[in-house]
Amino acid sequence: MATIYIETFGCQMNEADSRYVADRAAAAGYAVTPDAARASVIVLNTCTVRDNAERRAYGRMSHFRALKAADPSIKLVVCGCLAEQDRDVMASKAPYLDGIFGTSELVRLGDALETWRAAFDDGDDLTEDRLLVRPMGGEADCVEGPFAHLRAYVNVQRGCSYYCTYCIVPYVRGRFDNRPLADIVREVEVAIARGARQITLVGQTVNAYREPATGTDFAALLETIAALPGLDRLTFLTSHPKDATVRLFATMGSLAKLDPRFHLPVQCGSDPILRRMNRKYTVAQYREKIAAFRAACPGWALTTDLIVGFPGETGDDAAATYELVAEMGFAQAFSFIYSPRRGTPAARWEQVPSDVGHERLLRLGAVVDAGVCAWHERKRGTVVRALVQGPSRKDPTRVAAKTTDNVTVIAPLGALDTAALVARPWLDVRVDSPFTWGCAGEIVGAAARYDEVAEPIFASPLLIDLVGVA
Ligand code: SAH
Ligand code: SF4
Ligand code: F3S
Repeated sequence: MATIYIETFGCQMNEADSRYVADRAAAAGYAVTPDAARASVIVLNTCTVRDNAERRAYGRMSHFRALKAADPSIKLVVCGCLAEQDRDVMASKAPYLDGIFGTSELVRLGDALETWRAAFDDGDDLTEDRLLVRPMGGEADCVEGPFAHLRAYVNVQRGCSYYCTYCIVPYVRGRFDNRPLADIVREVEVAIARGARQITLVGQTVNAYREPATGTDFAALLETIAALPGLDRLTFLTSHPKDATVRLFATMGSLAKLDPRFHLPVQCGSDPILRRMNRKYTVAQYREKIAAFRAACPGWALTTDLIVGFPGETGDDAAATYELVAEMGFAQAFSFIYSPRRGTPAARWEQVPSDVGHERLLRLGAVVDAGVCAWHERKRGTVVRALVQGPSRKDPTRVAAKTTDNVTVIAPLGALDTAALVARPWLDVRVDSPFTWGCAGEIVGAAARYDEVAEPIFASPLLIDLVGVA
């Protein structure tokens, strides 16, 4: 049996690309496996947004090389942003690779899978040696599994033309390229037909979307997708503050099927730094936009990305970022130390010492965590509806799910098995304990669709007793 293992790093763009590769593989007759040691083809979909992403990708390559050494019939291929960035040097750095596919060569990768398919006969030809080389890590997302179809990532736009001075994305993904509305609609319809309960429209700056033929904007795209029959929930990633308009906020607030969450990376709280980052907005403009967003979308989660240690950042600049974070009440914030990327302008500027960057990241982390905890605390004692993700990685007797504002909730599975979870993937969870990482609680109901009344679920007889007494 020809099998394929796909390991994905990086952002929602890579997630969407991996699903494409999985679809092409399935159409060519491969089974997608969550076990690299059993795969005929291993695909590593890479990211290079920061240095640690690049190093991790090369680390994974040499790890998979060991599998290939044990069984040379394995095909090992690399795609994604690092493959694009290092297309000239990767072949000499890792001569054992069977293919290197840049970000615009996924179709070619799909074609290669078809060609190779014939070489893997249908007998079980696993060399026992390779099973001794167990993949480590396990942080990678696998595109396959009983719950994978519940979430679909649909590209609305490729590339980015904004050229923030720290960012490698425009160099490895190319300039903005908006997809025709009809193609997006068709892909969403296919995902819905396959049982997707949540559609995420993805792009680096989705809210800059313009329909190539008609010029209609992202708000119009949201309206069109939200009106598709059978759609359960809709969300989108990532937006740029420059293109966050009052019209968009009004549309967001008016669409009942949109998840109540908005990711709007601010990066930092100091104007001189924002200018040098080429972010195209000031702190005051960001504040104004958030005020308009809060007015149009009350109660929504606002999340962001932050960078500390950007070239030229002073202690006062960093302090302005901590203050802005405390003020904005972000429900979540992804914080990074600036990482110089080859070929980007900021990489050539005088750098902030790394110990200073680390110290600022710690201080920022404390402010971010306080906001995150406060957001989770608001859920204590309430029942939240969350879409199942799968068994908790730490404890398989518990299930992980995500609320519509993207908070992880964990609860004991009780008598629910995989079939029950697939049939009713929306779990009503009573939140008992909020933490920084998410919330823990008990499942009290489950529904097939977001807008359906849940079937009640009693976690244990003890709970019924307690409810009875109360
Ligand atoms: N298109 C999105 C984000 C793309 S990358 C946007 O414009 O907001 C995701 C996040 O990684 C960025 O928001 C930024 O916070 C971070 N990032 C990008 N390049 C980086 C670099 N060189 N060093 C550190 N963080 C970086
Ligand atoms: Fe990178 Fe800036 Fe484009 Fe986002 S908007 S992908 S940070 S260049
Ligand atoms: Fe990484 Fe490429 Fe996304 S560099 S963040 S996977 S666009």
